[in-house]
Amino acid sequence: MFDLLLTNATLPDGRTGMSIGCKDGKITAIERDIPSKAATIIDAQGFLIAPPFVDPHFHMDATLSLGTPRMNTSGTLLEGIALWGELKTVQSVDDIIARALRYCDLAVSMGIGAIRSHVDICDDSLTGVDALLEVRKQVAPYLDLQLVAFPQDGVLRDPTAHENLIRALDRGVEIVGGIPHFERTMEDGAKSVRLLCELAADRGLRVDMHCDETDDPMSRHVETLAAETTRLGLQDRVAGSHLTSMHSMDNYYVSKLIPLMAEAELHAIPNPLINIMLQGRHDSYPKRRGQTRVGELRDAGINVGFGSDCVMDPWYSLGKADMLDVAFMGLHVGQLSSRDDMRWCFDAVTVNSAKAMGLEGYGIEVGCDASFNLLQANDPIEAIRLRANRLAVVRKGAVIAETPVLQSNLNLSGRPDAVQPASYAPKTLD
Ligand code: FE2
Repeated sequence: MFDLLLTNATLPDGRTGMSIGCKDGKITAIERDIPSKAATIIDAQGFLIAPPFVDPHFHMDATLSLGTPRMNTSGTLLEGIALWGELKTVQSVDDIIARALRYCDLAVSMGIGAIRSHVDICDDSLTGVDALLEVRKQVAPYLDLQLVAFPQDGVLRDPTAHENLIRALDRGVEIVGGIPHFERTMEDGAKSVRLLCELAADRGLRVDMHCDETDDPMSRHVETLAAETTRLGLQDRVAGSHLTSMHSMDNYYVSKLIPLMAEAELHAIPNPLINIMLQGRHDSYPKRRGQTRVGELRDAGINVGFGSDCVMDPWYSLGKADMLDVAFMGLHVGQLSSRDDMRWCFDAVTVNSAKAMGLEGYGIEVGCDASFNLLQANDPIEAIRLRANRLAVVRKGAVIAETPVLQSNLNLSGRPDAVQPASYAPKTLD
């Protein structure tokens, strides 16, 4: 007897007609024919069951603040940072909690099961830290929220950032962040990477830095990040976020850099929606794309997970917590158009991002948490193509969000009564 049983599901690996039995919050059976005995039974109607979407890079202290106190008129990263500085002085802990909880509701409804959020600690009152620690506690039953102590104004450039970062870690923020390309000099940037990696090593913490989020090909802090990771034995525990300068780097230099990153087992976290919007703003034509070398990093064995970064905040005025939008953009900008590449883009917003965050119990396997999404798509590629409807969101055995099957009813003589987007799927291409 199961608590929850899904029948007639398609799995990401292509198996069809599968049943998934869940008990006590865990997946206890995945078989073709399971006797239908369960407290709750969901007929998946042949649609895709996939593990939760995972967003490994977000800014929850800024989300849904669009227009407060004003709009970003230039659209640049730097005006966004300046605008965020204005917002920080007027927002309260309660403001941030309210906005963040609203975003978490949206994220859950869109099938996100885990978010790694950076939280700005360059504010002596640590308003964002206190707010997001409270949010983390409130959403814990259904959303894994990791927090990164993020010195937005530079851990060395801002006079109290280093002290504040340590205070944030002492309060329970669990990951060390950084922004070496925003320090005053290249030397200070490298020094900040060393300082922050040593701090993480001393405390047994992970590292996730905004690293080289610039179009300057000489912004090479990821090199120091890789070297420090290896020196301090932090392999597999360090992520480089954005890494956009790699887009503009000299190919010969990159041929040395990528193996160093692989040796350090860095995780790479591009943010396709934001970087295609913010980068290349100083270019005339041709304009650079501002996405790191996703395919090359992947081919070198580096784990690459896509993040969303921003939704309706000083940097990005769009977004709807849809990791399939993120995958769709990453696929296009990276020209990842083969069948294998497109399937990989689905992994980049699910399993790869889960790996970057070090999530446990994640996946569609017996023994994993009974956490998954039922998507109105027949396979992962179609899920990206359609930015598929989330029919059911299940977390630890409980159905926490449901959306009806999307279809349009037709009033055309001689045509079917209704049409569903997923009905166009080519099922025999592979
Ligand atoms: Fe970011």
